[in-house]
Amino acid sequence: MCGIPWQLSGINNKPEAVSKIIVGTPVLAGVGSLFKTHGLSKKTVVLFDEHTRKLYGETILQKLHDEGFQYQELVVPAREASKSFSAAYRLYGSMIEADVDRSWNLLAVGGGVVGDLGGFIAASYFRGIPVIQLPTTLLAMTDSSIGGKVAINHPLGKNLIGFFHEAELIMIDPAYLATLPRREIYAGMAEVVKYGFISDEPFFSFLDLHFSDIMNLQEPFLTEAIKKSAFIKADVVEKDFRETSGLRATLNFGHTFAHGLEKLAEYRYLRHGEAVTIGMVCALFLSHHLGYLDQPSLERGLALLQKFRFPKGLVKRRFLDIDSALLLEAMLSDKKKLDKKLRFVLLKKLGEAFLLEESVEESLVLKSIDEGRRFFSRKPAH
Ligand SMILES: NC(=O)c1ccc[n+]([C@@H]2O[C@H](COP(=O)([O-])OP(=O)(O)OC[C@H]3O[C@@H](n4cnc5c(N)ncnc54)[C@H](O)[C@@H]3O)[C@@H](O)[C@H]2O)c1
Ligand SMILES: [Zn+2]
Repeated sequence: MCGIPWQLSGINNKPEAVSKIIVGTPVLAGVGSLFKTHGLSKKTVVLFDEHTRKLYGETILQKLHDEGFQYQELVVPAREASKSFSAAYRLYGSMIEADVDRSWNLLAVGGGVVGDLGGFIAASYFRGIPVIQLPTTLLAMTDSSIGGKVAINHPLGKNLIGFFHEAELIMIDPAYLATLPRREIYAGMAEVVKYGFISDEPFFSFLDLHFSDIMNLQEPFLTEAIKKSAFIKADVVEKDFRETSGLRATLNFGHTFAHGLEKLAEYRYLRHGEAVTIGMVCALFLSHHLGYLDQPSLERGLALLQKFRFPKGLVKRRFLDIDSALLLEAMLSDKKKLDKKLRFVLLKKLGEAFLLEESVEESLVLKSIDEGRRFFSRKPAH
């Protein structure tokens, strides 16, 4: 574990924030005693999507069997549409039929879709049972499994129906990433890089230096990047659980732009992390134009974001070819706006973000989008 140039600064003195996060390979070794330590029964509903069931189902269920668990298995299609009330309703039925009661818990095995849906079901079933997250995407390991926000989608908007229901345990095993498509790894990497931008300059430098090592799943870089990201998120969430102080909102760096892009892409053609990567480029320019971020920091930030790769033609179709005014309109219609005002998370420097309370002139937002456009047009790889 040599060559890691940073420490878990400011996080070691907050053990309660991270005590529920276990990182290791195989993370399920000793799962029975781990559940016991955390006050969880060995009666578990295991929720997979079709992909995670096929890839890891047998091994996980065998392990639970060996450790003396009573389990009930549930599987949903591997798509965003599974985060729906109809899917939840069907799963409640299977659980009632299997006599699952309040003495049970739910283990969600998958990416953010399974994590959000599993959390939603756990929060509501019999007025709430514990949820345990076993994330299998980079995004889920570093972001969606942590922080207790669980939700399903409504036809009128994403993540509109949900709860705050924190996981009792988050079991992270980076080895699951070996089967994850590269596009999904980039998408998760966007959130990892975001943590460097918003809260930790040494981590930013580490990511800059080891970007390709992490993308190639090289250890110890991969595990360190995951741990650090997960701990930053847990720390931020603990300090501002219900998003009252503006701190938790800094996790939305790049997201005001991203949500508009995702909406225009009908939440189908762009991965969330891809939209966030583009959004962070625009947010860097905006931070610079408003006088918060100096030129050298802007350039360092852009150089890191330059390393991301997208499927051929995607950025052109989903960003470069889109009218800026249309994007602005989509951003304004996003649910996270307050008083019809666009809210932006900006950088003061690399490693320090804040939520800007004042509204930003539309012309400056448009200018930042246009500069983002120029940035991506310069990139032949797109
Ligand atoms: N709750 C939160 O705080 C929060 C935060 C961010 C995102 N989210 C939600 O997360 C969801 C996106 O999550 P995601 O990006 O993990 O997508 P996902 O769950 O759709 O997973 C992406 C794809 O990878 C597959 N997969 C998962 N693990 C795999 C593995 N190890 N090997 C091979 N394939 C694997 C899945 O089956 C799926 O096809 C969205 O619904 C979003 O709203 C929630
Ligand atoms: Zn995000």
